[in-house]
Order: sequence, then C-alpha cells, then structure tokens
Amino acid sequence: MEKKEFLKELDEFIDGLRDKRDDVKILNFVVEKLDAIPKDVQKFIADKTGLMEISIENTINFYPKFRNKVKDKSIREVAVCTGMNCGPAGGQDIYDSLAQILEVDNDGVSKDGKIVLSKKRCFGRCPKGPNVSIDGEIYSYMTLEKVKNRLNLK
Ligand code: FES
Repeated sequence: MEKKEFLKELDEFIDGLRDKRDDVKILNFVVEKLDAIPKDVQKFIADKTGLMEISIENTINFYPKFRNKVKDKSIREVAVCTGMNCGPAGGQDIYDSLAQILEVDNDGVSKDGKIVLSKKRCFGRCPKGPNVSIDGEIYSYMTLEKVKNRLNLK
C-alpha cells in the first residue's frame, strides 16, 4: 500500500474513533495494515491527535507486540557474558576487544550504528563459557575470532 494512501486511511480511522487519543487502537490499526510502525507514522499520529511523540513511544515500548514492529532488523545485538565464569575465561577480553574494534559509544552502539554491544552477568550456561548472545541466540565456547566471523567483521 502506498504510504500516502495509508495515511489517508489512518486519518479517517482516527476521525472515526470515539476517543481520538486512543493510541493503543491507533497503533493496532497501523500494525494490522503495515506490519510495522515507522517513525514518520508515529509523527503523523502525534500531529493528528495532539499526543506527544514520547507518549506514543512509551506506549510502543510498553507492549511487546508494538515494540517488535519498530525494531530495526538490520541492527545486530551482541551481548557478551562477562560474569564470574565467562569473564575470566575470555568473556571480558572478547567484550573489550569488540568494544575497541567497533568503536562503541557509551550506549554500546558501534560507530557505524549497525551493532549494539552489551555485557551480561550470566546466561546460566557457565560451564560452556565464554558465552555470547548474537541476535538473541546464545553461542558457547566463544572466541573473539568466532564472534567476528559471525558478525562478518574483519
Ligand atoms: S558466567 Fe557466563 S553464563 Fe554464567
């Protein structure tokens, strides 16, 4: 569906609501039609309803069914266990090296904005450490080289 066409439909949908600030109903409508909640659509809703963009964002973050629809799937999430077992077994070194290679900022976002790096205290798989989670999947017995390969880093 064309974005313009969709925004017209959304406009009419909001006009038809008894409570025009019912952001949950509005976001449900968006997800049903687009299977995503793009930023510009969030802005459109804010302009149309008078709701603050931050309040729309809060609603999105509150409901997993909405939250998953704004996640940018091109961004990789890497969490390195630096807990009691994994840390000394190499997890801390993996984390430090990755942070350096990716030039992450204080929020763990890489310089190119494509990877988000974080630390975890324990994945509950201590004997198999170092453990690293990549895009939600946990990999055991990891090394820096293995992580780099999985992320296609040189
Ligand atoms: S310390 Fe890493 S999984 Fe437990």
